[in-house]
Amino acid sequence: MKFTTLAAMMVAVAVFGLLIDGHDCKIVQFIFGDSLSDVGNNKYLSKSLAQASLPWYGIDMGNGLPNGRFSNGRTVADIIGDTMGLPRPPAFLDPSLNEDMILENGVNYASGGGGILNETGGYFIQRLSLYKQIELFQGTQTLIRSKIGEQAAEKFFQDARYVVALGSNDFINNYLMPVYSDSWSYNDQTFMEYLMDTLEKQLKLLHSLGARQLMVFGLGPMGCIPLQRVLSSSSACQDRTNKLALSFNKAGSKLMEDLSSQLPNASYRFGDAYDVVNNVISDPNKYGFSNADSPCCSFGRIRPALTCVPASVLCKDRSKYVFWDEYHPSDSANELIATELIKKFGFSRVGETDGHSPAPAIAPSPEG
Ligand SMILES: *[C@@H]1O[C@H](CO)[C@@H](O)[C@H](O)[C@H]1NC(C)=O
Ligand SMILES: *[C@@H]1O[C@H](CO)[C@@H](O)[C@H](O)[C@H]1NC(C)=O
Repeated sequence: MKFTTLAAMMVAVAVFGLLIDGHDCKIVQFIFGDSLSDVGNNKYLSKSLAQASLPWYGIDMGNGLPNGRFSNGRTVADIIGDTMGLPRPPAFLDPSLNEDMILENGVNYASGGGGILNETGGYFIQRLSLYKQIELFQGTQTLIRSKIGEQAAEKFFQDARYVVALGSNDFINNYLMPVYSDSWSYNDQTFMEYLMDTLEKQLKLLHSLGARQLMVFGLGPMGCIPLQRVLSSSSACQDRTNKLALSFNKAGSKLMEDLSSQLPNASYRFGDAYDVVNNVISDPNKYGFSNADSPCCSFGRIRPALTCVPASVLCKDRSKYVFWDEYHPSDSANELIATELIKKFGFSRVGETDGHSPAPAIAPSPEG
């Protein structure tokens, strides 16, 4: 008799516990991006030519071994998420990813070489473009719905934070390269319209899937990446490329304002660190950098060496270089960019604004 009462109570506690868990999932992030946010997806795309799987990628993070990030250390999204008190989401293609990990940490779909446009980065053979990343996110949603139920899943996905950080490949590895048909099918203005129309559709799709709090990262002065500088004999920044970045930022910022007022409950924000990075590039010493035009990891005098490889030579002080390789900023530059975006977005720690405790543990559910 006593035993059955106790058993009944235990069942009640378990059911109650489940409901609580279902309605009080953690706040996590879903990240969509390119190599600037990739934390290992391309490692699992065996045919992709955009790889960060060899030393000396990752040298200033954790055990110093390559971890899939296209930098010596953290990405901008890593630093912003850390500041907000959010866990770092694992790579979608990480074979150990499961429902519990997703509920605890979110997912990162970012892929080196990916763009807003499907055709961007075709040269890399394999990469996840933004549409593909959203398709994979829909698969994640199906998985989570069957794990915690429709209602709890809806709340989980509406409470989550979303990062969309793509665009530079749409220029550097598409529009500005004559091997891609977009370079001769469009002009600066029509290409920008095409890009923004596509981004608008993608963000509306994400909203229909539950994304309410979303930030889009703008572009930096991408005409000043070492890879662009070697295009001119004076190794000056490519003015036209920088102008395209500025025009992307202007159009992107307007798009976010429009979407935030159009879409119910949407807080869609746009932030770029163009000006700050541009200032560092014109006067690196003022900001504690000693080099703002060549990659810290380079292959002797052979430039551009498209990736950092074990035979490359590293600069003496990695914290003083703006660029880690031909394309990607160093950990210190990413910190500077993140600090600027945090200022622009006005971030505080997630737990402090929402009344959610920062880390409610999710009890293992008995359901499959
Ligand atoms: C882009 O690719 C996705 C698949 O990832 C496909 O569903 C979609 O139709 C494509 N869109 C265009 C405009 O080609
Ligand atoms: C907007 O937020 C309100 C209040 O939280 C909620 O009742 C409503 O369902 C939300 N609408 C959408 C479309 O998310």
